[in-house]
Amino acid sequence: MTDKLIIFDTTLRDGEQSPGASMTKDEKLRIARQLERLKVDVIEAGFAASSNGDFEAVKAIADHIKDSTVCSLSRANDRDISRSAEALKGASRARIHTFIATSPLHMEKKLRMTPEQVLEQAKQSVRFARNLIEDIEFSAEDGYRSEIDFLARVVEAVIKEGATTINIPDTVGYAIPELYGHFIKTLREKVPNSDKAIWSVHCHNDLGMAVANSLAGVKIGGARQVECTINGLGERAGNCSLEEIVMAVKTRRDYFGLDVNIDTSQIVPASRMVSQTTGFVVQPNKAVVGANAFAHASGIHQDGVLKARDTYEIMRAEDVGWSANKIVLGKLSGRNAFKQRLEELGIEMESETDINTAFAKFKELADRKAEIFDEDILALVSDESVTPEKEQYGLVSLAQQSETGERPHARVVFTIDGKELVGEADGNGPVDASLKAIETHVKSGAELLLYSVNAITTGSTESQGEVTVRLQHGGRVVNGVGADPDIVVASAKAYLSALNKLHSKADRVAAQG
Ligand code: KIV
Ligand code: ZN
Repeated sequence: MTDKLIIFDTTLRDGEQSPGASMTKDEKLRIARQLERLKVDVIEAGFAASSNGDFEAVKAIADHIKDSTVCSLSRANDRDISRSAEALKGASRARIHTFIATSPLHMEKKLRMTPEQVLEQAKQSVRFARNLIEDIEFSAEDGYRSEIDFLARVVEAVIKEGATTINIPDTVGYAIPELYGHFIKTLREKVPNSDKAIWSVHCHNDLGMAVANSLAGVKIGGARQVECTINGLGERAGNCSLEEIVMAVKTRRDYFGLDVNIDTSQIVPASRMVSQTTGFVVQPNKAVVGANAFAHASGIHQDGVLKARDTYEIMRAEDVGWSANKIVLGKLSGRNAFKQRLEELGIEMESETDINTAFAKFKELADRKAEIFDEDILALVSDESVTPEKEQYGLVSLAQQSETGERPHARVVFTIDGKELVGEADGNGPVDASLKAIETHVKSGAELLLYSVNAITTGSTESQGEVTVRLQHGGRVVNGVGADPDIVVASAKAYLSALNKLHSKADRVAAQG
């Protein structure tokens, strides 16, 4: 007898709540398509009522995704729920996810409501939602820090009103695996109609235990849905990571006895796409998707793996999609091959003109870099200079001189609303000089919160440098990403990309759960 574990991905909602990770509609749709290829059961596409931008993103995802259930978050009120239902109209399978806090601290200090008022509002909102859509998830925010008898009353009541999934989040990442597992188990035992709903866990990673807590919620507590994100993206220290939970359940099927639907070969491509889109770099020693996850450095390990792979490897790199990191195109590849690879990667360009511009960029890159990987193509299409007419700022060219003992100087030619400008400046290093050169005209007043450089593909100095720049201004935090074989150029692109996001009229306000 096997049992199924439902994988509920919230990269596009909880993941998007990470600082600077807010995404445009097109970016969200591209990731949703990859999640569908990954075969996640439920995609939480956003929080439709939080902004017009997020409404449109949820709607676009609902209209396009066919194989996964598409879900929208809503606070426990009629307006939020109606907005979610409206955005989900085109979905093949839709879910409304409504939540209200149930811990004494949240009810008293945040909601300023009595427990009885919270109970009534939870019931009323599930009743309202159930009249619009059949698949209703109810979450008790800060559930793990709630009084268990009160929580059991709320859960029993919302199941009576028609909730089909009950989610008990560890909103602040406070749980300990054994305690959380037993909390879910005891709660299920206290709820007389607990068998009428699927139980779900949603753990944050503040103490680094989100995956362990989720697994305990499954094993001890009997939960059959796990909420998670690609690369563990999410508020503060993030959420339970999808790749870790999936590979734990698959690798230790002997212990968990559960099946997941996931096509694991799509894990690494999904990780790359999320990292390149949000600017959240994956640490090299991250389980499953980190660059070193399958690298054996010590001689003893290398020798062992060569003799018998399972001496030091419990998973195969190719099973989680590392083989996708292969040379796909080169200098001689034609437009058709390029277009076909874009399709295989799930990238849809708006027009033939956009494909032509991207192809021209690809040729330029192939002239400088003999081997083009999928990651290079993804970086290339994320590059705003592919569609310069749609962006306020764009890079035209960059020249810089640096020499040991001399102060570096940069000359950057760039556009603001199509008008070409030249900025020149000195700096501590060539990157500093280039960003200062841009600022001679822009005068953004933004604070630089983060600057990081990574190689897009590993193993060679020929690899493109991928730069992330995080800027803060006027209460907004944005990440800009730029890629180029020249890291100074990549830095200028990343800076201009961050400025585009900072000054963009497009709605990038992340959903706030
Ligand atoms: O962490 C949390 O409690 C949440 C809920 C809105 C599900 O994200
Ligand atoms: Zn959360």
